[in-house]
Amino acid sequence: MQGSKTYRWFKVAESAAELFMSGRSIVQVQAAGRELCIARHDQTLYGCASRCPHASGRMADGWVDALGQIVCPLHRYKFKLSNGVNSTGEGYFLKTYPVKETDDGVFVGLEAT
Ligand code: FES
Repeated sequence: MQGSKTYRWFKVAESAAELFMSGRSIVQVQAAGRELCIARHDQTLYGCASRCPHASGRMADGWVDALGQIVCPLHRYKFKLSNGVNSTGEGYFLKTYPVKETDDGVFVGLEAT
């Protein structure tokens, strides 16, 4: 579905290596004044909301499991990084954002209005 939308791209880091220098698999960034998270799983970068849709847990304090799901640190609900679906079935949806890395840096796409 993301392919049919138009995005404005915002640079969040010079490289993925810089972004994940701390060794964590999720980092919080800012793009156009918004707080977002960038997560990494199997060398792929994903963007998602910084707060959990359940009760606003800080997703950057969570972790990514072996299946590529981001796990909220508060109540451990899981969301697929690829599409934000709440894979543990509580009925929530985590907003996701496209991310790309080029020679110029790491960029997150926000829907153009
Ligand atoms: S706040 Fe994230 S699972 Fe409850």
